[in-house]
Amino acid sequence: MIYMDNAATSWPKPEPVYTAVLNCMRKHGANPGRSGHRMAIEAGNILLYTREMLCQLFSADNPFRMVFTINATESLNLAIKGSIQPGDHIVTTSMEHNSVARPLKELEKRDVAATYVRANSQGEIDPDDIRKAIRINTKLIITTHASNVTGTLIPIREIGRIAREHEILYLVDAAQTAGIIPIDLSSLPVDMMAMSGHKGLLGPQGTGVLYIAPHVKLKQLKEGGTGSQSESLFHPEFLPDRYEAGTLNTPGIAGLGAGINYILREGQNKLLSRITRIEKFFLDALLQIPGIKVYGPARMENRIGVISINVKDFDSAYIAGLLDQKYNIATRGAIHCSPMAHKTIGTLEQGTVRFSPGIFNTLDEAKQCIRALEQLTRL
Ligand SMILES: Cc1ncc(COP(=O)(O)O)c(C=O)c1O
Repeated sequence: MIYMDNAATSWPKPEPVYTAVLNCMRKHGANPGRSGHRMAIEAGNILLYTREMLCQLFSADNPFRMVFTINATESLNLAIKGSIQPGDHIVTTSMEHNSVARPLKELEKRDVAATYVRANSQGEIDPDDIRKAIRINTKLIITTHASNVTGTLIPIREIGRIAREHEILYLVDAAQTAGIIPIDLSSLPVDMMAMSGHKGLLGPQGTGVLYIAPHVKLKQLKEGGTGSQSESLFHPEFLPDRYEAGTLNTPGIAGLGAGINYILREGQNKLLSRITRIEKFFLDALLQIPGIKVYGPARMENRIGVISINVKDFDSAYIAGLLDQKYNIATRGAIHCSPMAHKTIGTLEQGTVRFSPGIFNTLDEAKQCIRALEQLTRL
């Protein structure tokens, strides 16, 4: 199988990720932070190690502000629902995934208002439009870092500056970029950043992270056992326990730590250049095939390696099915959980076929994809 679906989840993982998950389950399978014995302490060290890896990768200095969740969706729900109250207003964009749109639609039922700033047909957002959408009661700005439909990069530094000028919290959905594009939290005006552990960070499914800046205090979404202050009936206030009730996915987090360590060891820019090489090849080759429409920005600087296309007027899920069954190529067809983005680029009916190469794909595999698409245009 040629796996071109890394925007959904990365596969395969680097070998040390599999080893770390297994070792954690076999050797340190205790519950971290709960008991005082050695195995529990070792399990606790695994959590700390992964938080430290996250700090290294994103230039953050407090590992306890890296909160573990089960996916980017949970991170986004915590950041949004933990910071918003009835009467508040939120500014976001028309390129957001349903993991932003759906929590907002729920909040809109409870006296919260949201403005969805419209992107252009390439998925690009003008920061000035964000500024114009701000109201007196705006409490939160949310943007994706890169669209999972068009690959368009959103100018988060400029938007963050606007948020700071207006003393509004800024939440970045880095599900598509964390681990792939270098992100320096020490210099970015970002207050919260939601990440999937299982995409660019190369960890297993069931892992996610929310970075919370020092000046931000959220309402927790759940209360329960934390292994700390166990004599109290009230949930602890301190991080990370405030946001991490119940037993964590320690084996998954062990794998996530190994994934980030792999990125740091190999060098993030080197890994990124593997993806951009394939992305460039794809974009150049696709433009030469009559009958293929490519979405998103043409300029490489404005996009990541998420390449959405259509073959003539064919339904995108039909084409993705043929790629799978006839050509052994794994892509994703249809709407990618982002109907607002499809409405923006005009593909709500047809959807798109999304190729998302990862660090282990080869140029030869990309060539096979292009050959398959050439044949499909002759249908
Ligand atoms: C832009 C974006 N945000 C959020 C998510 C949700 O991520 P997760 O599946 O880790 O909850 C995705 C998943 O594809 C995404 O692409």
